[in-house]
Amino acid sequence: MLKDQVERCVLCDLSKSRINAVPGNGNTTDKVMIIGEAPGKNEDKNGVPFIGSAGKILDKALQEGGLARNDVYITNVVKCRPPHNRVPTDNEIQICTSSYLKNEINLIAPKIICILGATALKSLLGYDHMGKYRGKIIDIVPHRYFITYHPAATIYNAKLKQVFFEDMSKLARIVKGNKNTMEGYF
Ligand code: URA
Repeated sequence: MLKDQVERCVLCDLSKSRINAVPGNGNTTDKVMIIGEAPGKNEDKNGVPFIGSAGKILDKALQEGGLARNDVYITNVVKCRPPHNRVPTDNEIQICTSSYLKNEINLIAPKIICILGATALKSLLGYDHMGKYRGKIIDIVPHRYFITYHPAATIYNAKLKQVFFEDMSKLARIVKGNKNTMEGYF
């Protein structure tokens, strides 16, 4: 299983400094996938994605939009915590996405992939800046993406937080069956 492979992974040096690898988890039937950057301290300690301060913001934003944590599947570009929470290197991203994230996406077959932040955006779509893509749906067959800030980027910035909450409500509306967005696409 992919989860076991992630937990045992030693493909890059992040495996040497981690406490736990952090496989994705959540709802695999409703086909909503949320992708962050990499585990932080709490996630490394517990082996579960988005359970620290960024995770609390994410949960609240989902909840305000009418989605529960168990309505979605949550994972990260890189499955092990980079030391001091640095941004994962291109090499770490390449190894981890080609070994795990790509398979994870194929297995889940999401109807929508919510990209959280610049690292996931660059890793998945190759875009360098979020500016004109944030809050938008991007269709790149066979996948549909929705792009927003990383919740950690909103912790000390009330404006970004408001936009992030609005974006997550938009995601929730899309997921809950906006006829113009989800239906008829797959
Ligand atoms: N930030 C992420 O990108 N992922 C986590 O799991 C936690 C914090």
